[in-house]
Amino acid sequence: MNVAVIGGGVIGLAIAWRAAQQGLRVTLADPAPGGGASRVAAGMLAPVGEAHFGESELLQLSLDSWRLYPRFTDELQSVSGRPSGYRECGTLLVARDADDNASLAREYRFRVAEGLRVERLSSRECLALEPGLAPSIRGGILAAGDHQVDPRLLAAALLAACERSGVDVVRSRASLLVSAGRVAGVSTEEGHDRPADAVVIAAGCWTPLVTGLPAEAVPPVRPVKGQILRLGGAAPPAQRVIRGLDVYLVPRADGSVVVGSTVEERGFDTAVTAGAVYGLLRDARELLPDVAELELVEVAAGLRPGTPDNAPLIGATSVPGLIMATGHYRNGVLLAPITAEIVAALLAGRPALPGAVAFAPDRFAKLAPVPA
Ligand code: GLY
Repeated sequence: MNVAVIGGGVIGLAIAWRAAQQGLRVTLADPAPGGGASRVAAGMLAPVGEAHFGESELLQLSLDSWRLYPRFTDELQSVSGRPSGYRECGTLLVARDADDNASLAREYRFRVAEGLRVERLSSRECLALEPGLAPSIRGGILAAGDHQVDPRLLAAALLAACERSGVDVVRSRASLLVSAGRVAGVSTEEGHDRPADAVVIAAGCWTPLVTGLPAEAVPPVRPVKGQILRLGGAAPPAQRVIRGLDVYLVPRADGSVVVGSTVEERGFDTAVTAGAVYGLLRDARELLPDVAELELVEVAAGLRPGTPDNAPLIGATSVPGLIMATGHYRNGVLLAPITAEIVAALLAGRPALPGAVAFAPDRFAKLAPVPA
């Protein structure tokens, strides 16, 4: 069976790798594999820290993917010979003031009701865990099971694993070929068509722009801009991921810190702005004053693939042979292993994983696509 994957972010790469491992002949097309939103993502594996009211099914999917991560990254490292930056570090959600602390109390009760492992901490307990926190911090929630990867390392490892597993990686855009109402393959810019029995579209917020996509399969996915900062120093100012209500800081083992992120509805705009740098640094410094001493190494903007219910579209479409794996919004890195499992099962004709049905692409069939 021939499979083509359009899109080489962490989702497309993970799918291509898993599909090749089960003996399928796989082509992956992307002008710059590992680019796009994957290059800007912070890499939090934080189903607990990032849980939201009213998103129970997404929470379950996130927990399922989080459980896969240790084995996924171990296997990836042994196949690719490269690290992914997987670190079991935990998340500490902190309150700057009494209002934040009241919000954290609600967040804590919500997580307890969902059966999640969380611990409510006093100001003193937060400072004992993370001495770099501002002394004014009023309290916190520890999500000890939330971890991280480095998405740039992860993408490089996935690309190497794909190549070692026989995936034909074509550095090109691709359009979808449809014949007699079903997918026939993809056409790449290098000039020849590649027949495929199934095509997986993992093109993030660019999915609706894939040439050849039949109108009935165009998903309501839109770009949601996020700006992040990378700060560099000799030692990270915290051991854990630190989250306030408006900002998060992800300390890497090498001493650098990712500070994120804005959430902006600005179409395909990827300009970095002074206002975002100012706001992120101001909010970060309120939590961890020492970030002001770090070097500002990078400012970057990425485009998350947002959907009407903030959950991904994973599965078969109404066009025979066409599979979607897109719309992962704020959770693409976390959801890469489970998305790859769901799509690999579909390609192999195995029964769908329990829970996957909630993310079927046709759940928005009555909605008009979002204009670019
Ligand atoms: N998951 C982090 C973000 O989207 O900013």
